[in-house]
Amino acid sequence: MKKEENEVIRADRRTFLSILPIGVLGVVGASMTLAAKRSLDPETTVAADEGWKTVGDIAEIAGDEPIEKTISVTCRSGWSKTVEDVSVYVLPHHDNKVLSSVCPHEGCPIVWEDESKKFLCPCHDSYFSDKGERLTGPAKRDLTEYETRVEDGKLKIKV
Ligand code: FES
Repeated sequence: MKKEENEVIRADRRTFLSILPIGVLGVVGASMTLAAKRSLDPETTVAADEGWKTVGDIAEIAGDEPIEKTISVTCRSGWSKTVEDVSVYVLPHHDNKVLSSVCPHEGCPIVWEDESKKFLCPCHDSYFSDKGERLTGPAKRDLTEYETRVEDGKLKIKV
């Protein structure tokens, strides 16, 4: 190889090596910006399959006690997508109102107390009426109520 050819190859290598960090930084920066946007955007941290979910056959929902049901919801948070089982309470004695089973205080699962006819959060003893209204304890609001509708004989909730 001649001396001039070696000089040209060295110059090309130097040019490439001086541009490489800029390209790498550009790719890393774009990836971080996209990741930050996805994780900070509130739309990306809610249920990925937003819409109406079937809770059960309306014909089978009856009685004087809350009925616990489980539905599967696909959730997306940042880059990950997970399927979570969500527990809800259907209240056939209150026009099939559907309540979240998550305590509004710090998110513990509530339970139905047969004897007292109230919902209890066992974590810090918040009590809610059989309609989900806050009665006592550190929770500051009622249990969350889902929007409902009946379609083709199925009770559905909006998630
Ligand atoms: S989490 Fe339910 S009362 Fe604290």
